[in-house]
Amino acid sequence: MVAMRLIAANWKMNKTISETEEYIKNFIPLVKDINDREILLCPPFTSLQVAGELLKDTNIKLGAQNCFYEKKGAFTGEISLDMIKETGASYVIVGHSERRHIFGEDDELINKKVTAVLEAGLRPILCVGEKLEERNSGITFKVVETQLKIGLSGIEEYIDRIDIAYEPVWAIGTGVPATPEDAKEVHSFIREMLKKLNPDAKGDSRILYGGSVKPENASEFMKYEEINGLLVGTASLDPDSFSKIVKSF
Ligand code: PGA
Repeated sequence: MVAMRLIAANWKMNKTISETEEYIKNFIPLVKDINDREILLCPPFTSLQVAGELLKDTNIKLGAQNCFYEKKGAFTGEISLDMIKETGASYVIVGHSERRHIFGEDDELINKKVTAVLEAGLRPILCVGEKLEERNSGITFKVVETQLKIGLSGIEEYIDRIDIAYEPVWAIGTGVPATPEDAKEVHSFIREMLKKLNPDAKGDSRILYGGSVKPENASEFMKYEEINGLLVGTASLDPDSFSKIVKSF
């Protein structure tokens, strides 16, 4: 059984430290009474520390948008999980579409990152999703299957400690979401895949939908029991808009 549903904000490369402070101070009172769902903010690395301080003792969790899998050393420009953990973060997004398609991350690298996040005792959110040409040629399930199989390779026994985000690439930042029915279909497929990869798992993984979620359409996704949460980019950048999504169902 899926535990609490998870509503996550992915700020991407947005907000300085002072903008983060202002957002969080405005956001906390808007969601302070909500305890029946998990709320997660994933600011850029430079804002993690201040966000961690402000979110301490609140009902809002903190996550990073990426990480490197090595513990330390000569990896210029990279951020380790120990560094992330000390800020108070408990989640790490791995394999986001922009990491895959702008920065060339492949499934093998993503698998190393998911493994390292688990080893650090943090909770990974593994992102999967097909490109438009893949959807149009009818291979959505095949693409998602490969991303899950390789992304979770060797860590199948820990599947309950991993959440998945289904984000069709063509729906991210375009204003054109998947239909809730199409999303639901892929979510059911992902749930089946997780069962196949680990038949003993309890089913604790949340499967989130992401891609042009807004206050106006969030409840359309959340009405399906197959959809256990949302990963929100653009519409999470304003505290008012994100709090409406959090409270939309
Ligand atoms: P979007 O981004 O909400 O702006 O489409 C979602 C994401 O990339 O996580």
